[in-house]
Amino acid sequence: MCGIIAYVGRRPCTDLLYQGLRKLEYRGYDSAGLSVLDNGEVRIVRAVGNLDNLERELKGGDGNGASTGLGHTRWATHGRPSTENAHPHLDCSGRISIVLNGIIENYAVLRDELSGEGHGFRSETDAEVVSHLIEKHYDGDLVEAVRRSIGDIEGHFAFCAVHADHPQLIVGARKECPLMVGVGKDENFIASAIPAFLSETRDVIAIEDGELVAVTPEGVEVLDLELRPVERDVTRVNWDADAAEKGGYETFMRKEIFEQPAALADTLAGRLGGDGMVTLEDINIPDEELAAIDKVYVVACGTSYHAGLVGRYVLEGWARTAVELDIASEFRYRDPVLSPRTLVIGISQSGETADTLVAMRQAKKSGAKVIAITNIMGSQATRDADGVVYTRAGLEIGVAATKTHLAQIAAIQLIALHLARLKGTKPPEELAAISAELHGVPDLLTDYLRRETATREIAKRYFEKPFFLYLGRGIGLPVCLEGALKLKEISYIPTEAYAAGEMKHGPIALLEKGSPVVVVATDGHVYDKVVSNIEEVRAREASVIAVATEGNEQIQSICDDVMYVPRTSEMLSPLLSVVPLQLLAYHIALLKGCNVDQPRNLAKTVTVE
Ligand code: G6P
Repeated sequence: MCGIIAYVGRRPCTDLLYQGLRKLEYRGYDSAGLSVLDNGEVRIVRAVGNLDNLERELKGGDGNGASTGLGHTRWATHGRPSTENAHPHLDCSGRISIVLNGIIENYAVLRDELSGEGHGFRSETDAEVVSHLIEKHYDGDLVEAVRRSIGDIEGHFAFCAVHADHPQLIVGARKECPLMVGVGKDENFIASAIPAFLSETRDVIAIEDGELVAVTPEGVEVLDLELRPVERDVTRVNWDADAAEKGGYETFMRKEIFEQPAALADTLAGRLGGDGMVTLEDINIPDEELAAIDKVYVVACGTSYHAGLVGRYVLEGWARTAVELDIASEFRYRDPVLSPRTLVIGISQSGETADTLVAMRQAKKSGAKVIAITNIMGSQATRDADGVVYTRAGLEIGVAATKTHLAQIAAIQLIALHLARLKGTKPPEELAAISAELHGVPDLLTDYLRRETATREIAKRYFEKPFFLYLGRGIGLPVCLEGALKLKEISYIPTEAYAAGEMKHGPIALLEKGSPVVVVATDGHVYDKVVSNIEEVRAREASVIAVATEGNEQIQSICDDVMYVPRTSEMLSPLLSVVPLQLLAYHIALLKGCNVDQPRNLAKTVTVE
């Protein structure tokens, strides 16, 4: 989720690049940098922290008259936030400079190879291999060197490269990460998102997957991987600046819901092999110690706690490990039974939630091993824990967590698969099958999101109701808890989420004719039990809105509305079934005129007890 901006033209570009970065700050901001081509040399300026720090570094610097350059705002995925790890990166000669968004999955292999060939690395990032690859392949033709480099890279990325020998050329390339060209008069821009150049031009060319682009002040040449020219129309965008920052979406929350396939794919990238082998690069606990773990204790708050609840099912089911869970603000005031064979997993998208941090510290003091699952590199949780599993969801701005939640579920699934292999609780072929299925979920989700209009129609039928009950069983229960939390926090409608089998011990008293009851009824071993609970609801003339598995036509006869999700195995189902509940909450909140990105009284990061 880094931001890229590049300029080639006749104007001095330092400020243009800096202003572009300001517009990309929403994509991540742990460090930033610029490189410009000035008098036959590459000049580079980088700073840790937000853009004010970069601005200070730029003041009075060299290269302010340069008219070709690259800018980058970083959201760390490999290598902590530091000046050395900030982009742009250089090759050994200091004449090639690159900025990259994405993940180079085979960077460790490439780095070893390139080091063996004499290349010296200055950072801990995966991105730096790209500048050295281009250096290796360069024989006077930058476009060809970029083309050859792409052939060596596995992963998903968008990057731009410049070479001091070609003062008026920028070469861009993309695979799965976005890259846009902004077409101007005697000048052109390349960026990872349109807001970066919207104040300068509204004429845009979208670069597609597997394409390169060579940009000079006079022209834009889009090329395929054989370097054959590709015809591409220029599109005029009419977004205002605010809409542009949201990538054309009406709200950040909606944008983030639609970014979930990418958040999931990024969280899995390079970590889960086809054979089910899991590589968790920052876990920092030796395999023998993990294999000896006899209890996992999950501590978290809010939506992160719900991801932990999903984790219980996979840790028990796959790794056959006892699991306890607690809300961090409760855990810290209890006297939990922990030992050196307890693995405490603190889940926090921000890595800064006060209660979760204290719970993790207490656990560590008691001798337990502690892992943080967090979205923020360098956050306090990463410093307090023994090891970290980063979710790679990119910056989340909407207060109501969506894409970080899905990425947290994937992270805990990775931990469960890792433990299952170390403990030998699943045969390798079953681990391989789970891995293959997990890798397919982002595509299923993309397909699902294309057809989301059904949820909006359902929302229209129920948005004026004063109360919603959510019911689920098994792994569907945490999904209900999360769905009910989403609706409550962004629409202010009171909700209750309950284990469906427990409904008859209380919540059933709340039901009357037409009360909306949302039921997670996806296929699984408790499906028939859930159907019985639906019948109990119907007997009170309440309305049933079900989340069900595609192909289950029969459920329509006992429900008022059905939101279908693609079929997966039961353990993976929350990755899909929570999404219609996010969307239902979203549409209801919009229909009620609520500010979904900033609901009243709530904060994105709660750093007080
Ligand atoms: C706040 C946010 C929630 C989040 C919770 C825990 O309540 O509004 O979206 O789930 O904090 O935050 P964390 O950063 O620890 O995941």
